[in-house]
Amino acid sequence: MFEIRYITLDDAGYYNGGMTAEAAWSGGGVVLIVYNKPSKPKVTGDHNVEVNRYILLTCSSNSTSTPDYYSKLVTLSYTWFVNETKIDKETTESLKLYVAKDIRYNRYSCTSTDEDVESDRSDPVQINPLC
Ligand SMILES: *[C@@H]1O[C@H](CO)[C@@H](O)[C@H](O)[C@H]1NC(C)=O
Ligand SMILES: *[C@@H]1O[C@H](CO)[C@@H](O)[C@H](O)[C@H]1NC(C)=O
Repeated sequence: MFEIRYITLDDAGYYNGGMTAEAAWSGGGVVLIVYNKPSKPKVTGDHNVEVNRYILLTCSSNSTSTPDYYSKLVTLSYTWFVNETKIDKETTESLKLYVAKDIRYNRYSCTSTDEDVESDRSDPVQINPLC
């Protein structure tokens, strides 16, 4: 059993122990993962689009949890918002939108989540339908 107080991102990594040096080096340790807020997402995608078409917005963000080899493998989940309202059932990186004329008033933004730790909200984007 071990205890770490006031944990920081640098504490993440492989821990092992034992009564003797040989025991400690013989494997069977644990990897300690320290979760951290993912980076603030950016919403990318075509902003100037013809009406009556579908477009794809992408929420890009990275895990900042440690160790690095964990954060490279992690799959973030995503939450999309139109104005201040969460869009139900949209939990992937991409949001497919049908472009109608009145879509120009909507502000789209997203957050990303690593385990239970949620990022800051992205800056909102607006779509400019070309009529
Ligand atoms: C995420 O990481 C990749 C590779 O390190 C980098 O190119 C990209 O800009 C990062 N994206 C964000 C939103 O921080
Ligand atoms: C978002 O806000 C704008 C401006 O207040 C409003 O015109 C638009 O209808 C809203 N969109 C939704 C989907 O609520």
